[in-house]
Amino acid sequence: MDLSYVESFSPGDGYLPARASQAGGSVRVSLDGTWKFRYGRGPGDLTAGFEAADFDDAGFGDLAVPSMWQLAGLPGTPRYGAPAYTNVVYPFPVDPPRVPDDNPCGEYRRHFTLPPEWDFGGSAVLRFDGVDSCFAVFVNGAAAGHSKGSRLIREFDVTRHVRAGDNVIAVRVHQWSAGSYLEDQDMWWLSGIFRGVTVLNERPGAIRDFFVRADYDPASGAGLLRVDAAGPAPVSAPVSAPGPATVSVPELGLAGAAAGLEHRIEAVEPWSDEQPRLYSAILDAGSGEQIAFRVGFRRVEVRDGQIRLNGRPVRFRGVNRHEWHPETGRSLDEATMRADVLLMKRHNVNAVRTSHYPPDPRFLDLCDEYGLLVIDECDLETHGFGLLGWRGNPSGDPRWFPAYLDRIQRTVERDKNHPSVIMWSLGNEAGTGANLERMAEWIRGRDRSRLIHYEGEPDAFYTDVYSQMYTGYAELDAIGRRQEPVTADSGHDAHRRALPMMLCEYGHAMGNGPGGLADYAELFDRHPRLHGGFVWEWIDHGIAQVTAAGERYFGYGGDFGEPVHDGNFVIDGLVFPDRTPSPGLLEAKAVFAPVRIEIDLEAQAITVRNRHHTVSTAAYRFAWRVEDGGALVAAGDLEVPAVPAGDTFLVTFPPALDYAISTEPEDERWLTVSASLAADPPWAPAGHEVTFAQARLGPLALEPELRPPPGLHIGARSAATVRTGQVTLGAAVLEVGTGELRRLGPYPVHAAALDFWRAPTDNDASAAARAWRRAGLDRLTRKTLAVQCGEDGLFLRQRIAPAGADFGFLASLTWTADGMLFVEVAPDGTWPGPLPKIGLRLVLDAAVEEVTWFGRGPGEAYRDTHLATRVGQFSLPVSALATPYVRPQENGNRMHARRLTLSGPSGQNLAVTGYPQVDFAVRPWSPELLTTARHTPDLVPDGRTYVHLDAAHHGIGSASCGPPLPPGHSLPAHPVALTLGFTA
Ligand code: GAL
Repeated sequence: MDLSYVESFSPGDGYLPARASQAGGSVRVSLDGTWKFRYGRGPGDLTAGFEAADFDDAGFGDLAVPSMWQLAGLPGTPRYGAPAYTNVVYPFPVDPPRVPDDNPCGEYRRHFTLPPEWDFGGSAVLRFDGVDSCFAVFVNGAAAGHSKGSRLIREFDVTRHVRAGDNVIAVRVHQWSAGSYLEDQDMWWLSGIFRGVTVLNERPGAIRDFFVRADYDPASGAGLLRVDAAGPAPVSAPVSAPGPATVSVPELGLAGAAAGLEHRIEAVEPWSDEQPRLYSAILDAGSGEQIAFRVGFRRVEVRDGQIRLNGRPVRFRGVNRHEWHPETGRSLDEATMRADVLLMKRHNVNAVRTSHYPPDPRFLDLCDEYGLLVIDECDLETHGFGLLGWRGNPSGDPRWFPAYLDRIQRTVERDKNHPSVIMWSLGNEAGTGANLERMAEWIRGRDRSRLIHYEGEPDAFYTDVYSQMYTGYAELDAIGRRQEPVTADSGHDAHRRALPMMLCEYGHAMGNGPGGLADYAELFDRHPRLHGGFVWEWIDHGIAQVTAAGERYFGYGGDFGEPVHDGNFVIDGLVFPDRTPSPGLLEAKAVFAPVRIEIDLEAQAITVRNRHHTVSTAAYRFAWRVEDGGALVAAGDLEVPAVPAGDTFLVTFPPALDYAISTEPEDERWLTVSASLAADPPWAPAGHEVTFAQARLGPLALEPELRPPPGLHIGARSAATVRTGQVTLGAAVLEVGTGELRRLGPYPVHAAALDFWRAPTDNDASAAARAWRRAGLDRLTRKTLAVQCGEDGLFLRQRIAPAGADFGFLASLTWTADGMLFVEVAPDGTWPGPLPKIGLRLVLDAAVEEVTWFGRGPGEAYRDTHLATRVGQFSLPVSALATPYVRPQENGNRMHARRLTLSGPSGQNLAVTGYPQVDFAVRPWSPELLTTARHTPDLVPDGRTYVHLDAAHHGIGSASCGPPLPPGHSLPAHPVALTLGFTA
């Protein structure tokens, strides 16, 4: 058996030239379904002759096509191999083009019959939409070819091999191949025929390929349409000169126009992400064959240093999207793709980078249809060479050039007819080198209607945009001003400095986060050169797992016995693996809002800023509501004329709002103004809220001042206090001798202590949490310096400090007879860095079922991730207060509560008031358990309730793969006062 193709630099053999995914075949027979399958451990464990038509495959198992074989059997035990996750490092020795002997192989077989309408006078083409990583294909025993390049279409001419009646297709798929060196993306290593397989019947005279160029002239409003059609044979013929084929776009009055020529249509509605206007069109081969397709007229260009769509500068409010499903991996059905698109649209996302390979083409159909701008990225990454100082990087090695060229050709040819694709990306993290430069050259010769992106060449001399990832704020600001340092080769400086700039990745959404998106948005808004960016990333690549007890959870790197892996670095999405939006997505939605509402109380006016590049605000309904302590006082619509794209409009408060705010408030009063969809666009129902703004209205009647502890008169102890050794102060019962809290209203208290620890988030983990542990914040000890107790109050003074250190905190806690607690904490000595938080931990020896509060909600919020929350009255069960991050970590903080009530299962209530406010989290497990837990089932409630009442938190940031937390979001050790009231 000749398996030399597996380790050859060549992209394959025997295949047909790449073409548009929409082209080819008036009869299409899907071969998706159950195939016979055998898993071999390597080249020494293959079945000789398995490709023969009459081979007896009764001993083979079954496997679905499309699917990824390592996921078969999950969430139970994997049946064939196991998933493996690495980010940068290759999971095999770097010895290209060789791969290890342990190279699992899937032998696939299935029978098929061609339908009665099959024309044997035409040709038969076998199409694979995606096979990872290398395969050889046989039809009725005859070899048809072999291929590499996992996430791209490959077609073979099998005309000579198919017949009427029974046919057998056999495919040998290799997990590793020379191609794997070019596919080192940060994701699970998974194999198999993971996208569809089709046999296409092309009649004589059929159109083999077509290229739709639909330009829009913003100056005149005209559309310029040219459709080039390539004839049937020889199949390798270049796209033809004007031929007999014709194009019709009935809606535009274009009928039977010659293919291969440009047709000017005086007035067209352009396509944009905001108004994805598509026209139905027909390409007639002149031989009876017709291909239906859709045209979107649009112009993408760089002009005056800015990226423009139809003449207008665009800003990307984008995400990086891997294809992922927790059960099927990178095999997605259309419903899942649509779910992604709808979720993106509903969260104000306007752009997608298809990191780091071309997606299933059906995803691009949806982007055309619903309106998303796409950076279509080639299936190419050699990041593992980066760990070797880029020694031997394929990007600079001419032996790899055919593979590089093959991959970009297959990308561009496949997706060239999608109006949503506005940039081609050469790949990701493949260093730099001549092969990449030549890919760009090839694109320029083939398609000038889109821009070329690649982040890995810092001088950006062969790209049309300057792109970076995870840039810090100061550097981004300098780039915005075009004042970045000169290029390594100064000959490229003028070119790069003239380019528009974007972040192809930023806002690392690993675990709890990303924080600081608003700081990025501020820079994007400030500098016309900056075109926004793409949050890393859309979805957590968690794999569905189940415990022995039947509890479902999501696995990550290392859970499948991988000898090298990168743990939960693959869990860094804005949606959880099951596509539940995480708080990070809600924050992104708020930051990405295409309209901004600003309330100016002094001017009694509302500013509406239209941040769309194309559409007016006509699609939105604006409304206001006034609430006292969360209770509705009055509400109404706000008349806003259609504000054109890019404009701002000032609306003065309508009379009904004026009247409402002139009445006496019953409680803290807030005005909320929102923009929601007036009609039903295809991606959301009418009424869907797009954005909101809030302002607090005066007078601030009920807000008590933050009082320092009064000069307390402790007073004498009563006989009962002396007898029991406990004092009752309002809702609190405390030990006279130690000051320990024993009870709060209906709840027995197990422990109460000042608390400075939080279970590190992934964004804390890289730097902050290491410093916290070094400082000893996870192992603080307490020393009581003084306790004074009487019937009027209890005063406790403590020093809290880590072993071995001469710094700590001095704290005083003062309980008064009316149930108030005054806490003052101040650093004692010099703390080496910021703190996780400063607050009070109450451990109740009881279950709490529900929390009702007035403050920010309903979701979790931190100082740099609170824009999605609003001030109001909320109520949630304790179970819903937790955010189930795949790797457990700090979560669930609710910000700025003025008051909260903890309700127990038998109706017992404890009310807590913050003077003026307090952050809180309520959990059935401890921060220590949250710190050590690896997966969600590790979080086992212990029967107690951990109530955290915090004065301040460290921010969230995105340092797991981004700049350090900016100083403005961090929490230095500093004096803090926290005043709380407890009422039963
Ligand atoms: C980037 C890379 C992504 C991902 C990210 C970290 O460097 O392009 O694929 O690895 O970092 O999650």
